[in-house]
Amino acid sequence: MANYTLQINENTYEVNVEKGTSLLWVIREHLGFTGTKYGCGIAQCGACTIHVDNEPLRACVLQVENFSSGQKIKTIEGLSENGDHPLQKAWIEAQAPQCGYCQSGQIMQAAALLEENPNPSRAEIKAKMNGILCRCGTYLRIIKAIEIAASNQSTTKD
Ligand code: FES
Ligand code: FES
Repeated sequence: MANYTLQINENTYEVNVEKGTSLLWVIREHLGFTGTKYGCGIAQCGACTIHVDNEPLRACVLQVENFSSGQKIKTIEGLSENGDHPLQKAWIEAQAPQCGYCQSGQIMQAAALLEENPNPSRAEIKAKMNGILCRCGTYLRIIKAIEIAASNQSTTKD
């Protein structure tokens, strides 16, 4: 066992875990950020998508010892203070989720997309969201939600 210091959602946490423990396990089981989901465990589904220094990554295949305390990790719980990120509001407006299991990963991937490209075309949305799987098949509503969020963001800026 060893101690590791992680910066998650603007707070600093110290965890004592085995070397090789996945970041997903630390986030969910040790720190209680259960919004990030375990799907496949092999970087194939995207349910565990988080941000590391604003880049969307799959927490299930990241190992705790590879993080420095200066790296900023963000989970769905850190996306907004009151669940009112433009994407979270758009998700409700578009009634995007079905069972909900994949949706945190979808939103985190979409948030990274809008950071990089605030006004993406439908083709750009599809390309960026391509690897985040939804067994319920909510893809069309997810695209609609991203389009709503992008449009609301640009209206707010005008
Ligand atoms: S649980 Fe990480 S990609 Fe599926
Ligand atoms: S909403 Fe059920 S897996 Fe996506």
